[in-house]
Amino acid sequence: MTVFAEHSGRVHVGAADALPDGSQTEVLVDGVHVVVVRYEGEFYALRNNCTHKDFPLLGGDVSMGRITCAKHGAKFELATGKAKTLPAVKAVKIYKTLVEDGEVYVLEL
Ligand code: FES
Repeated sequence: MTVFAEHSGRVHVGAADALPDGSQTEVLVDGVHVVVVRYEGEFYALRNNCTHKDFPLLGGDVSMGRITCAKHGAKFELATGKAKTLPAVKAVKIYKTLVEDGEVYVLEL
């Protein structure tokens, strides 16, 4: 008999109270590294790879609703993943987030 593990379709990030504004957390979603950013009270999740030269976005400066790649300075819009400044031109993949009972999740696609 084969037993299949239940697939919840979401990855737990942590308690919302433990993730203050400005925090960045990395989680694995279907084997993909994703950075979860809390900005102005909202949670945003983006693939943790700059579309310019694949540098991690984790730890990049966040302001004006954008995260900046620390390598060459490309900025990506948190809400859409769109590249807003060169040298990046392609959007970074985004994921949906969910807060339920005070816990934060990234939804798997
Ligand atoms: S690797 Fe991110 S801007 Fe170049």
